[in-house]
Amino acid sequence: MDNAVATGFLAQMGLPHEYPLVIGRDAAGVVEAVGAGVDHVAVGDEVLGHVLLAPPISAGTLAEHAVLPAATVTPKPAGLDFTTAAALPLAGAAAVQSIDAIDPQPGQTVLVNGASGGVGSFAVQLLAARGVTVVATGTPADADRLTALGAARVIDHTAGPVAEQVRAAYPDGVDALVSLYGMDPAGTPISAVRTGGKVAGVAAVPDEATLAAAGLTGTSVMATPTREVLAPLAQQAAAGDLKVTVADVLPLEQATEGLGRLATGGAGGKLVVTVEG
Ligand SMILES: NC(=O)c1ccc[n+]([C@@H]2O[C@H](COP(=O)([O-])OP(=O)(O)OC[C@H]3O[C@@H](n4cnc5c(N)ncnc54)[C@H](OP(=O)(O)O)[C@@H]3O)[C@@H](O)[C@H]2O)c1
Repeated sequence: MDNAVATGFLAQMGLPHEYPLVIGRDAAGVVEAVGAGVDHVAVGDEVLGHVLLAPPISAGTLAEHAVLPAATVTPKPAGLDFTTAAALPLAGAAAVQSIDAIDPQPGQTVLVNGASGGVGSFAVQLLAARGVTVVATGTPADADRLTALGAARVIDHTAGPVAEQVRAAYPDGVDALVSLYGMDPAGTPISAVRTGGKVAGVAAVPDEATLAAAGLTGTSVMATPTREVLAPLAQQAAAGDLKVTVADVLPLEQATEGLGRLATGGAGGKLVVTVEG
């Protein structure tokens, strides 16, 4: 998302931007002031939160001070450090809300396409915790990590079409697909899903008619990291029940290098930028 803003992609899509514009949406820090009517956090509280994607695009979090909507700000549990907390909001909410959209039942099998990424690493854990058999995509370099997060099987997306590999292992198809990779709906591996199955996610999802023609239902998800979603995730992370994969921590001066790493792929998790207050 940060690169979509930085490269002007969202501006080209017609989303209003107001300059000067600050990149970055997730944050963890200490409250310096609150607006009228805010009573769930106070000055001095340690919190995490998110700048929602609302027009005009202008406010961001790669800064010493950031203005966050109160609806996204939740207290940071004492057992959670700032770096880990800052890596949680958007990816965590995207995983929760994508999973809620397919409503998987214990014992079902779910394919997570894009499982090795920031959102996927949360989705694998949250699905496994719900008693779901998780089929995760990732290169051999990520296989052990994904298995440790709860994946029952790892499909190497560089070794051939994902749907074909899944069908070879599960001839009847999986019960649902969580789509976390790709912009092209036609490239989504929906043929891995059995008739009557579900498809949802924050990456490409085919439209309703295409899904219906394949005997499937589903929806595209827009992640909204409200504090109701973030608070339980922060508690789970603080308790050690949810692993947050922070690939690297960079000083603000190196934030643009971090954006470059995200753009070229293989970041291996979240990149957190630290800002001296
Ligand atoms: N709509 C929303 O609200 C919302 C919110 C959050 C994220 N998103 C979108 O959701 C997607 C995932 O976000 P993220 O933060 O998890 O991104 P990410 O960290 O870049 O993860 C994407 C993952 O996809 C993997 N991948 C690359 N090629 C693949 C292939 N052919 N098949 C399967 N997986 C492949 C990448 O692996 P390698 O690193 O090995 O290449 C990477 O681990 C992005 O498109 C993002 O823009 C949308």
